[in-house]
Amino acid sequence: MAPEEAQVSVFDRGFMFGDGIYEVMAVYDGSVFTLDEHLRRLNRSLDAIRLESPHDDETWRQIIEQAVERGAESPAYLYLQVTRGVESPRSHVYPAAVVPTVLITVMASPILERKEIEPLKVITKNDFRWGRGDIKVTSLMANGLLKNEALAEGFDDAVLIRDGEVTEATAANVFIVKDGVIATPPKSPYLLHGITRDHVVSLAKKANMPLDERALTEDELLNADEVWITSTGYEVWPVCQVNDRFIGNGSAGVVWQEIDRLFQSSKD
Ligand code: PDD
Repeated sequence: MAPEEAQVSVFDRGFMFGDGIYEVMAVYDGSVFTLDEHLRRLNRSLDAIRLESPHDDETWRQIIEQAVERGAESPAYLYLQVTRGVESPRSHVYPAAVVPTVLITVMASPILERKEIEPLKVITKNDFRWGRGDIKVTSLMANGLLKNEALAEGFDDAVLIRDGEVTEATAANVFIVKDGVIATPPKSPYLLHGITRDHVVSLAKKANMPLDERALTEDELLNADEVWITSTGYEVWPVCQVNDRFIGNGSAGVVWQEIDRLFQSSKD
């Protein structure tokens, strides 16, 4: 339906509590990229918040396919959100009978056209978010605060540091390259297990590019030869500055060029 016709109750728990989870998927040439992986993470997030999935995978696939067809945009972002439905009066206790609210939108994405890849400037910030960054919850208060602080300070994004170690950016995972070796923080409860992250790790491994999944200190980030962020929204995107330090020569590095080439050809 048209967005202006869609309605959600003011008592929806997504609205009142941020009690929901979501996925963002990329649509290339009319089909959803890495759909199996997104469905797996959707189910994982639903399990983690103890919300029974309203559909089995086959039905999700059909609904998503229909949305892509009707959305008729490409490249596009497909946004899928599931909340714990409507409950009144407001209560922290989960309702006994839950009818989840499902929202799917498909919107054109100029970024995915990749006409211009301007490397980003990032600032490090203390990661004060909760301890379950691995669940893709709709409540993104902290991520929004940190992103907007970074913008207000003249940067494009923040890279978050917890106990001296890099977790992720506000809506993307983080990679560095040092002396030809790619590195990214290991999966943990403190960061989202990005589908793009996993895809990049597997592309690099298949191409025999050296890669470590290991803890990265803030110092290593500042002294890296290359820094990238990865997400469905940005694919693999180069970073040219962290705080007051320029990374490499200020433009995208050679390892980034290789991984981006592999990424682009993996879409076919
Ligand atoms: N963000 N970390 C965070 C906190 C994120 O919000 C995202 C994605 C990622 C990258 O995950 P993936 O590669 O699966 O997209 C990492 C989406 C795109 C968003 O919120 O719009």
